[in-house]
Amino acid sequence: MLAGLSNWLDDRIGHRRLLHDALYEPVPGGARWRYVWGSTLVFVFVTQMITGFFLWTAYSPSTITAWESVYFIQHELSYGWLVRGIHHFAAQAMMILLGLHFLQVVIDGAYRAPREVNFWLGLILMQIVLGLSLTGYLLPWDQKGYYATQVATNIAGVTPGFGPEIQQMAQGGTGYGHHTLTRFFALHAGLLPVLLLVFMTAHIAVFRRHGLHVPHRFLAKPAEMFWPDQVLRDAIACLAVLATILYFAITRGAELSGPADPSEAYSAARPEWYFLFLFRFLKFEAIDAMGLDVGAIYIPGALMGIIALMPIIGRWKLGHRFNVAYTLGLLGGAAYLTVLALSEDKANIDYQAAVAEAHRDGQRAVELAQAEGIPAQGALSLLKQDPFTQGPRIFARACSSCHHYNGHDGTGRIVLVTTGKGHDLVSTPVEPTAADLGNFGSREWMSDILVNYHEVFAPVKNIVDGEQKPGERFLTGDMASWSTDNKEALTKNPEDLKALVEFLAQQGARPDAGEIDAPLALKGQEIFTGGMLKSGDALSSACTDCHTMKLPNAEEFLSENSGSGVPTLEGYGGAIWLRRFIENPGHADFYGENNLMPVFAAKLTPDQLDLLVRWMVGDYIPTKQTIHVPAVASGGGH
Ligand code: HEC
Ligand code: HEC
Repeated sequence: MLAGLSNWLDDRIGHRRLLHDALYEPVPGGARWRYVWGSTLVFVFVTQMITGFFLWTAYSPSTITAWESVYFIQHELSYGWLVRGIHHFAAQAMMILLGLHFLQVVIDGAYRAPREVNFWLGLILMQIVLGLSLTGYLLPWDQKGYYATQVATNIAGVTPGFGPEIQQMAQGGTGYGHHTLTRFFALHAGLLPVLLLVFMTAHIAVFRRHGLHVPHRFLAKPAEMFWPDQVLRDAIACLAVLATILYFAITRGAELSGPADPSEAYSAARPEWYFLFLFRFLKFEAIDAMGLDVGAIYIPGALMGIIALMPIIGRWKLGHRFNVAYTLGLLGGAAYLTVLALSEDKANIDYQAAVAEAHRDGQRAVELAQAEGIPAQGALSLLKQDPFTQGPRIFARACSSCHHYNGHDGTGRIVLVTTGKGHDLVSTPVEPTAADLGNFGSREWMSDILVNYHEVFAPVKNIVDGEQKPGERFLTGDMASWSTDNKEALTKNPEDLKALVEFLAQQGARPDAGEIDAPLALKGQEIFTGGMLKSGDALSSACTDCHTMKLPNAEEFLSENSGSGVPTLEGYGGAIWLRRFIENPGHADFYGENNLMPVFAAKLTPDQLDLLVRWMVGDYIPTKQTIHVPAVASGGGH
């Protein structure tokens, strides 16, 4: 029955003969593993067409939907993460396979007559694949892709002759933005795959015309048919490639950094690893001095030109040796530059912090999208209004010149000062001149103020005003003396210290304070006003002797002592206290005339102040992210 149908069909389309022709191609010298690379490339390309098609069904190219649709693919769509992961790693596999295929062709001298044209077709295919990678990198419209691709369009802009025109054409206008995205998408999913298909078909057709190029030394063995020995080897190689791609797609996954933000320059911009060598090459001083067009166009163009001439150079025995040495030299050089770039980045603490921040933003955008949904103006606005994202940045800009935050500037960077000129720049860590605010307002902070005052405020010693050290007055002031006098009594009565701290923590009503132990806080209040400890010891003076204090919702003040440089403890450490303090720390309710901190009322917009304060008191959607100084490889260059 089936045989009958097959005969019927064969009479009409002749598929048996086609199949026979395809499979019974003789392989002189027998099947070999070294011929598998071309087949694996075709296999990976088909994988890309299939996964690319599925990604296309959910992707939406516009500046306010691209990141959002990739987020949807990655986090909402069933198995979307897997399809995207495969597409991502298959693209990288293609680069490696291209390299191997090229290496095998050159070493075997398979570019020699009559295969020159096919060699050139292969070079064109290589350019198309590079183009696909480049255009694909931009499509998620995340910080990483946005800034890395900008480097590429800038390179296009220095093309000799008509650079600006090419750049405009690629960008879709004078600026880099929305139309860059739509064009890159049209190239990535439209023109380039079609070109690849056309050139690949031509490449394979020409290949079949001449057959495999088999080095002489293999010809001693008898020829075999393509089927089944070579097909088996090809299939195993394809499966191995697929397994590798799946391994990475499942264990690592494709990253999605934060939504592209044109207003937030991204200092960690790097191209994908296979372009890293070029990136590093351009950073050499000598190359940099020659101009971007020389480094990024003339020199690579000349190197590629020599590759294109290989079939002609290879006519001579010595020429072939030159070709092999040249190829190995290029690959070795590229490998060296890649390793150099990676190891420099690994030791660069600033770069590592920028990478960590980008990663955090990406994760955070996902957390926010999952908690609140994505608003119509796009996911970027989630990050823009998020205290956990913006607070650290505002702190780094406005506060970190004096205060540190757990030893860094708020965003996870060490605060550095750069001195020197030109190429002799040296960056050195800056000593803080005010308290580290990493745990400001926490119970730990309250406790330290009472029993470790000198330690908390030690950085004020670094404030220098000519001969004066005005900050030292904090270390000799009333609170410092009080702490010295009462440290022993409080450490001997830890329950009382805890009660005082609980009472203070209650004042701020901070979202990050957790549960307040009300009975304990009440005991603390008694000590606060009476100055008597449970053991019968008395504090040198009660807090209310100096500080203003009014309890939440109370009509009466517990005590009123404002205006003498003694900060009010009403709502201490909470959002309202902090906001008022930052706006004007020299107000009579705070440090008064003793103040050494700038007034920020006019330096921060109300929105910035709000984001900063809400971050400091923990008033934001909970996060799994942490901000810390990244560990770097030894050397620690900046
Ligand atoms: C020019 C240096 C300087 C800058 C900039 C600065 N401060 Fe201060 N700040 C101080 C000094 C000095 C003190 C008092 C002594 C201390 O805290 O070590 C202080 C005190 C504080 C306090 C009271 C808690 C404490 O440590 O006694 C808070 C809270 C505070 N600053 C927050 C900020 C914030 C938020 C910013 C950024 C918007 C900022 N400061 C910017 C110098 C500065
Ligand atoms: C002798 C007066 C005096 C007494 C008593 C006193 N303080 Fe203070 N306190 C100060 C002064 C003055 C400052 C401001 C910093 C400075 O000038 O050293 C201060 C600062 C503080 C601050 C830090 C505000 C900031 O900068 O963030 C806290 C918290 C605090 N006191 C809590 C207490 C508590 C709790 C008690 C009682 C257990 C207490 N103080 C007792 C005078 C006093």
